Amino acid sequence: MTDQDIIVIYHSPDYPITYWQEWLDKLTSRIILVPLDSPEASRAEVMITWNPPKGAIAQMPHLKGVVSLAQGVDHLLSDPTLPQNLMIGRLIDPFMSQSMAEWVLLAILKEHRDDALYSAAAKRKEWTKTIPKIPEDFTVSVMGIGAIGGHVAEKVAGFGFSVLGWSRHEKSLSGVTSLTGIEGFNRCLAEADYVVSVLPLTEDTQDIYNAESFAKMKPGAFFINCGRGMQVDEDALIAALDRGHLSGACLDVFRVEPLPQDHPLWDHPKVTIWPHVSAQTSPITAATQVFDSIMAIREGKPPVNPVNPARGY
Ligand code: GLV
Repeated sequence: MTDQDIIVIYHSPDYPITYWQEWLDKLTSRIILVPLDSPEASRAEVMITWNPPKGAIAQMPHLKGVVSLAQGVDHLLSDPTLPQNLMIGRLIDPFMSQSMAEWVLLAILKEHRDDALYSAAAKRKEWTKTIPKIPEDFTVSVMGIGAIGGHVAEKVAGFGFSVLGWSRHEKSLSGVTSLTGIEGFNRCLAEADYVVSVLPLTEDTQDIYNAESFAKMKPGAFFINCGRGMQVDEDALIAALDRGHLSGACLDVFRVEPLPQDHPLWDHPKVTIWPHVSAQTSPITAATQVFDSIMAIREGKPPVNPVNPARGY
């Protein structure tokens, strides 16, 4: 290593260091990624990470900032030892937003187009048809219509569904009725055939889908979650499915991940499980943004997509 090298700590259990190094190398030869437990890590001013061990960041003496290798930052802000003055950046990547929109549309369209029914009929070599459904007759509530959820909501609206969107502040999005506050929340739950949650995890959204919220949903509603598992009371969700109040659920996130082998959601006939892949991070699309954030933080400037810790995203 030379004086010109920029040491950056890398910690992300899902992808090897070489994957990110290779893409950052296309932008500069100066950034050297090092693992959290390497001797060089203590020299780093910047860390790029997903889900670092609690307490690890506070131990790095020269760290000025951290870049989340994800859209969410709850994995950082939930660390009580996180230094107050640390700059934090998150990813807002058009590829990830698009990927999440694809996943949400897949979950909706599988239901809307009776995929399970036709697949089962085809296995029996049966040629049966259901009555076509008109998207406009179906309401999709997208809970969380910020930078990412807003894109999801517009794409869903583009397919002709009637779309309501819920957020802290009113938004102007094509084809989306923007609602706020508790009244807006209740209306989104009451009117939706599909409740899609893209919310960030904050103190306000933790456990937001509990027995009371599921009871507020329209009978027969379908629940889709690609926000965070800690927002859902999973026992209450199972109870709502079992009593037939909800018709099904498609889940990408869980209170505990990986979902434990003995968890009842795995075997639930009305639930589809995905392993937190609705919007995976890719250095192919995100390396430039991560590079820009690393350089900004070193100069004491805010990263790209700076996080407001008080707001939680
Ligand atoms: C993934 O969960 C993310 O926050 O991007």
